[in-house]
Amino acid sequence: MKHLRSIDELGRDGLVRLLDLTNHMVEVNRRPVPKVPALRGRTVVSLFFEDSTRTRLSFETAAKRLSADTMTFSVSTSSVNKGESLRDTVETITDMGVDAFVVRHKSTGIPWQISNWTNASVVNAGDGWHQHPTQALVDCFTVREALGKERFDGLTITIVGDIKHSRVARSNVTAFNMLGAKVVLVAPPTLLPPDVSHWPVEVSYKLDDVLESTDILYMLRLQSERMSQGHVPNLREYAESYGLDAARVAKLPPHAVIMHPGPMNRGVEMLIDPSSLPNSLIHRQVANGVSVRMAVLFDLLAGESSAANLAQVAS
Ligand code: NCD
Repeated sequence: MKHLRSIDELGRDGLVRLLDLTNHMVEVNRRPVPKVPALRGRTVVSLFFEDSTRTRLSFETAAKRLSADTMTFSVSTSSVNKGESLRDTVETITDMGVDAFVVRHKSTGIPWQISNWTNASVVNAGDGWHQHPTQALVDCFTVREALGKERFDGLTITIVGDIKHSRVARSNVTAFNMLGAKVVLVAPPTLLPPDVSHWPVEVSYKLDDVLESTDILYMLRLQSERMSQGHVPNLREYAESYGLDAARVAKLPPHAVIMHPGPMNRGVEMLIDPSSLPNSLIHRQVANGVSVRMAVLFDLLAGESSAANLAQVAS
C-alpha cells in the first residue's frame, strides 16, 4: 500500500489487514514505554488546512511512538499566507525529504492531487465531505474490540445526523458494509445526500422508529462550517427529533453501544451528559485513534523490512 486516501482504495482485505495490525500497536501502547524504533529515520509531515484536535494529535503521537520524525505545517504561519500555491507548498516540503503527508483539507480530492505532486505516501485525514478513512478504521476497530467480533454480520449500525456533510459517514458506511453490518441512516431529508439511493443502506427520517432494532448508535454533529445554507429550521427542533436524551437511550436494547467521532455538540445531538451514557465507546474511539494510526503509518512506511519490523513491534 502506497497511499491511504479512501476506504474503497483500501478494500476489504486491506481493511482487515490494518485492523489486525492495530492489535500489535495496542500491545505496544500498553507497555510502560510505548515506543518502538520501527520508523526510525522516516519523516511524517502533517498538512492540516482545517481545524482538528484528535485526528491531528493522534497522527503525531502515532508517528512519534514509531520513532518517526514529525513536521507540522500550520497554515496560519506558513507561506500560504504570502500566496504560495498548494502545489508549491507540497513540492517544497517534498524537497526537504519526507516519507508521508497526512493531509486534511476542506476540498474533496486534495489527497489524490497531492499524490501527483510528490513521491511520498499520502494519508487522507479528511477531505471535504468525501472521505475520512482512518476514522472508519478507528470505528471498526472499536466495534471489534467492544463486541469481540471480527465480522459484523447480524449487527445493525444506525448513523444519525448530518450525513450530507459527513466524510465520516461516507467512509464508515463503506467500511461497516465491507465487514457485513447492516447500516441505517437517520436524518431529516435536508441532511441526507441526494444520491443516497445508491448507497448500501436503509434510510429513516425518524430516530424513535429505529432505536429498538439498533445495536450500535453512531451520532454525528451538525457540520455547520460545511453548510452553505440553513439545513435545519432551528437547532431546538433538530435536537427534539434527532438529539440523544435519556428517553431515547432507554429505548435502545440493553446491549446497544453508543459512538461519536467527536467533536460533540452538547445540547444539539448530545442532550445527555456523555459520561452518564451506559455503553459509550466514545473514549475508546479516541484511545484507539493512536493505535490505528500507528498501524497505518507502519503499513505505509516500514517498507521491505516490514516483517522483521513487525516482530520487533510485537516482541
Ligand atoms: C470528524 C471530521 O473532522 O471529519 N471529526 C474527527 O475527525 N474526529 C467529524 C466532524 O468534524 O464532525
